[in-house]
Amino acid sequence: MLTLFDPLLRDLAAEPIDLSPRRFGLVAACDGGLLEVSGLSIPVGAMCRVAHKPGTTLAAEVIGFRNGRTLMMLLGDSVMLRPGARVHPEGKPGMLPVGAAFLGRAVDGEGLPIDGGPPIHARSEWPSGGLRTSALDRSPVRETFDTGVRSLNALTTFGIGQRIGVMAGSGVGKSVLMDMIARGAEADIIVVGLIGERAREVSDFVERHMHAEKRDRTVVVAVPADHAPNLRLRGAMLATSMAEHFRAQGKKVLLILDSLTRVAHAAREIGLLLGEPGAARGYPPSALATITKLVERAGNSAASGGSITGLYTVLADGDNQDDPVVDTARAILDGHVVLNRALAQRGQYPAVDIAASLSRVMNDIVSPDHQKLAREFRALTASYEANRDLVLMGAYRSGADPQLDRAIAMHELLTAFLCQFGGEIIDIDTSAAQLAALLGP
Ligand SMILES: Nc1ncnc2c1ncn2[C@@H]1O[C@H](COP(=O)(O)OP(=O)(O)OP(=O)(O)O)[C@@H](O)[C@H]1O
Ligand SMILES: [Mg+2]
Repeated sequence: MLTLFDPLLRDLAAEPIDLSPRRFGLVAACDGGLLEVSGLSIPVGAMCRVAHKPGTTLAAEVIGFRNGRTLMMLLGDSVMLRPGARVHPEGKPGMLPVGAAFLGRAVDGEGLPIDGGPPIHARSEWPSGGLRTSALDRSPVRETFDTGVRSLNALTTFGIGQRIGVMAGSGVGKSVLMDMIARGAEADIIVVGLIGERAREVSDFVERHMHAEKRDRTVVVAVPADHAPNLRLRGAMLATSMAEHFRAQGKKVLLILDSLTRVAHAAREIGLLLGEPGAARGYPPSALATITKLVERAGNSAASGGSITGLYTVLADGDNQDDPVVDTARAILDGHVVLNRALAQRGQYPAVDIAASLSRVMNDIVSPDHQKLAREFRALTASYEANRDLVLMGAYRSGADPQLDRAIAMHELLTAFLCQFGGEIIDIDTSAAQLAALLGP
């Protein structure tokens, strides 16, 4: 029994004793989730506890200051909060807990366990905004990354350290594809950030992945949709910081963030609350800057030899590919996979639209033969899709276009190549060999 307390006692002994006077502020105004606090001078990003009902406190985070007052966002409900309530700063501002203690665990945006397991004693901390490194520390993408998904491995081959967006409307299969990749991918550590998703999906994911063989290498950070926007943002930062911590140890990390759009929504809510003007589709400039910064933190590190391969899902609202988040993500990412609703409706899963998907590093990392076969595959599917209606109506007479003839003859085989069951894992060599066998002489 006493051994249970050992890590706790060790942590306490290592903690420096702070004898400086305790300061607190007072709640001066409360407007929705926004608090104005007087008498506190603490930096943006600091966490505080606000005295609430007798004996209970509410968490709040500093998001700005104005006219001598500190602006904070409540992480919970403002019901029963009184004017003049005391606000105490807590923890180290801007630092997030990271470390091996989180492996095999599922935590919330504050790093507290949600899997019913024992408390986590994090030994290290990481700045929530990341450590800024020189652009030259990002070594180029040189090795292929195995996703375990045949169509992606063969036709839009990803590299270790690449940042990829998975873009689709709602319900087209982004989360299921992420799930397949989390299971099939080759990585030392897998960090999964489920931000703004449904609570049911979070519990499903944790249930499935925390009993799988990769459990000891996986961390899940989950902040469902009903949580405060700054908690959602914090969840995304925590997942990214966690990945950066492992990369600094030279590990090959896979970071999955589902979804980047919901992180942008959270940043939009905070920006608007602080009075920033909404620009494109109501997104203030800071919201788009937030996701750019977040995505830029993934990549290879020359200093440690580690890498973060980033996979971000992007919701194309109403299947609109010109959404500001889709646009920003496409511009900053090194590749994107587009899922197509029409394919999903035909039952083709994963519904990858090969013509619209692109890996910007593929040509640097696969053999010329593989590139040629992938181009051929794209040409055949594009040719069939362009003439699909004609062919189905019987208006096309064979012999008119040899490329289309071949595409029609091979259509079923090509479609079968793109399909894959959720439980199946197809590694990159097998994927390339199957592509060669399909299109080979
Ligand atoms: N590979 C697959 N095999 C079979 N069914 C699938 C597959 N992928 C998706 N589906 C079906 O599509 C549904 C929606 O998928 P998913 O939850 O991944 O969508 P999403 O794009 O993440 O949606 P949202 O934007 O709402 O989060 C699933 O519940 C499932 O029925
Ligand atoms: Mg989803």
